[in-house]
Amino acid sequence: MPQPDLNFSTLSPADRLQIEREHQRLAQFLHDLHDTCCKFQTLEDCQGCGREKVACCQGRLASFRFDFFDLVAEHIENEEQIMRNSLGDAGCDEYLRRHQEEHAQVLREMKEWMQEMSALSRDGHTAAAIRKLHQKITARFGEHAQTFDNPFFNSAQNETSGSVSG
Ligand SMILES: [Fe+2]
Ligand SMILES: [Fe+2]
Repeated sequence: MPQPDLNFSTLSPADRLQIEREHQRLAQFLHDLHDTCCKFQTLEDCQGCGREKVACCQGRLASFRFDFFDLVAEHIENEEQIMRNSLGDAGCDEYLRRHQEEHAQVLREMKEWMQEMSALSRDGHTAAAIRKLHQKITARFGEHAQTFDNPFFNSAQNETSGSVSG
């Protein structure tokens, strides 16, 4: 996607920190999902795990589905608000509009994958469901960061509090 000149945008250190923390929190959630499954690195399913462990993984996947979705939705709202406040330059409206469309698309895709993976888990393939969901979200978020988030956060100038002239 052709990038507008985002160098005119300014970002306060507090806003930058907030977004960085939210991105880290999302990454931590994904990391915890990965660690839930002791078969993550293998192509085996849940054979070998006891009933209690499988039930625990099913519960973790079910709560991840809702907690993570809410967290992403909240992050998107914050990120868009911060960008709206920071982008002052003409041409950035188009960037923001496309970024918002992309966020809506990410949420739709995530909802679909989460439904699919819940069904897979209910059918007894919880390890496969966790692995697939983790891989899909990790890849999609990586792509989104590279195409949309990073160009903005890397080019936005730090707002300085002592910049009042006179
Ligand atoms: Fe983001
Ligand atoms: Fe984003």
